[in-house]
Amino acid sequence: MVPTNLLKIGVVGATGMVGTEFLKILEQRRFPIDEIRLFASEASKGQMIGFRGENCKVDSLSDGCFKGLDLVFFSSGDGISQTWAPKAVSDGAYAIDNSGAFRMNAEVPLVVPEVNGDILEEVTSPTIIANPNCSTIQMVVALNPLHRKFGIESVKVATYQSVSGAGKLAVDELNQQTLAAMNHQDVETQIFPHPIAFNNIPQIGSFGADGFCSEETKMRKETKKILRNDSIRVSAFTVRTSTLNGHSEALWVTLKKRVSKEDVVSLFKTSPGLAVVDDPSNNQYPLTRTASGKDPVYVGRIHQDLEEENTWLMWVVSDNIRKGAALNGIQIAETIFKIDS
Ligand SMILES: NC(=O)c1ccc[n+]([C@@H]2O[C@H](COP(=O)([O-])OP(=O)(O)OC[C@H]3O[C@@H](n4cnc5c(N)ncnc54)[C@H](OP(=O)(O)O)[C@@H]3O)[C@@H](O)[C@H]2O)c1
Repeated sequence: MVPTNLLKIGVVGATGMVGTEFLKILEQRRFPIDEIRLFASEASKGQMIGFRGENCKVDSLSDGCFKGLDLVFFSSGDGISQTWAPKAVSDGAYAIDNSGAFRMNAEVPLVVPEVNGDILEEVTSPTIIANPNCSTIQMVVALNPLHRKFGIESVKVATYQSVSGAGKLAVDELNQQTLAAMNHQDVETQIFPHPIAFNNIPQIGSFGADGFCSEETKMRKETKKILRNDSIRVSAFTVRTSTLNGHSEALWVTLKKRVSKEDVVSLFKTSPGLAVVDDPSNNQYPLTRTASGKDPVYVGRIHQDLEEENTWLMWVVSDNIRKGAALNGIQIAETIFKIDS
């Protein structure tokens, strides 16, 4: 039986980009918390972090550290989740994992609540639930209504992904490189394979023998799993840009039916999690600067392809550490524990 009163929760990776956003959103949404335990690496042990007007001490992970908790959010990377999420479950807590460690495990639900939250009805005892990759989450929020109403043949997507997607050290790297470049100094590069300031890097993750990088493979495989349809053809080309926060995606979606722009826009306007910004003649379309810090997935520049009448182009933008990570994880928890947001 899922407990519904005040919860005892843990946040692993509480000092990171996603962990910090978790704490912010838990406060903003008045998540019902009785006790919170914060975890990070040994280097952060003892650090104090303010939460709801109180100072909480950061601890490192140790056997038994999750005992008594109902729920643990993980955002410390694949290796930490691989080892510690199963321990949280055996200690009696639900583990909501932001890493890529369990996403394609057939036994583990991979959930975007607006899209396939119904599968959480089967989740009635502590287990691992995976949060999809940030670029996948925003894409499937836009694809899902099209898939349900018209059917999708194929999706092609080119991404423009901010540095915050690579963590707090990546944000520091962009800031330092930008300052250095403005002062005509040499730039140091540690996180990305090339300088990121004033640059686009057509690589996110490592390359496979097929020529696709790991982010592109994640988008293809995760989309099919979340939409519960293996026959949709998905091809992604992912690029890191020198924006600070918020991912943008250009999509070409080929539908199974011929539809009008009115059909697409009116469907989007009534679909959960989506906000339409589509008035190009007045320069109105989604932008990372306005999406950063907000909850919705924004969609605009919606137009029909001139060569393929069933293909629709659109521009999809969202905050990658918010809906792409922490917010989605909290929405999963709200669904499991039947919490009104
Ligand atoms: N950033 C995004 O947009 C995004 C989106 C979706 C998913 N994710 C996933 O979320 C995870 C975290 O990403 P992030 O961007 O938040 O990274 P980040 O800013 O680099 O933060 C990493 C966090 O992990 C902690 N950590 C490192 N080693 C640890 C250890 N041995 N034990 C416990 N905690 C440890 C760090 O603690 P210290 O401060 O002590 O080093 C920090 O709190 C990754 O799996 C990433 O793929 C990120």
